[in-house]
Amino acid sequence: MAIASNIRWDTARYENQHAFVWEYGESLLDLLSPQWGERILDLGCGTGQLTEKIAASGAEAIGMDADTAMIEKAQQNYPHLSFAVADARTFQVAQPVDAVFSNAVLHWIHQPDSVIEQVGQALKSGGRFVAEFGGQGNVAGILRSLQQALQPYRSSPLNPWYFPSLSEYTTRLERQGFEVIYAALFDRPTPLQGGEAGMANWLKMFAHGLLAELPDPVQAQVIQAVESDLQSTHYAAGETGGQWTADYRRLRVLAIKSE
Ligand code: BEZ
Repeated sequence: MAIASNIRWDTARYENQHAFVWEYGESLLDLLSPQWGERILDLGCGTGQLTEKIAASGAEAIGMDADTAMIEKAQQNYPHLSFAVADARTFQVAQPVDAVFSNAVLHWIHQPDSVIEQVGQALKSGGRFVAEFGGQGNVAGILRSLQQALQPYRSSPLNPWYFPSLSEYTTRLERQGFEVIYAALFDRPTPLQGGEAGMANWLKMFAHGLLAELPDPVQAQVIQAVESDLQSTHYAAGETGGQWTADYRRLRVLAIKSE
């Protein structure tokens, strides 16, 4: 969830309002296909839900995340599993692992080569790297609207996220000795939890780094401006309440560390 970021995460907001992060991640487990007895690292494990699913397959799962609060909550949720605070750009493992798994994390890190290098060091020869994160064009509508709303308060637009194209990321993997077995970039419109508050919740959770430095009333104005700008494209009013949808586009890869 968080790896190598200096944002402090609100674990309650994450678990109560953004369960879709790990619920969607469950389909990535099919690509990982964890086997009994394997040693598997969950890089950016958040509060541990997918680490636990990996462990349930009989693999030895280790969860890592850069955020201390996330790791404390993961350890509280799953006391029988091993978790550690670590930065994806510098982490080490005590023994090489069969697979590194990472869901919805790598878009936070603007140094992809450092991450790929550490993943390569952590893997056994023939080990697999299975990752999904935001790809080129991810949340493009939200980002454009947010940058526009922040324009009066910023001298230049900021994109806090790394959303590479498929060819850029797979080339980076190949340059570091990985064989890319599978790669896909696909749209995955994502319904947000919380009804009418869904977009505000999402912005408070994931755009926190952009909003936090503004005074509270200005944050509220920015959120309102984004909501009204995106109303016609990202919102549907229903009989039982409104529904916001985020314009997610995912990049999914399976790469093997060459012998
Ligand atoms: C994502 O999972 O695609 C995402 C999460 C937070 C911010 C931006 C994108």
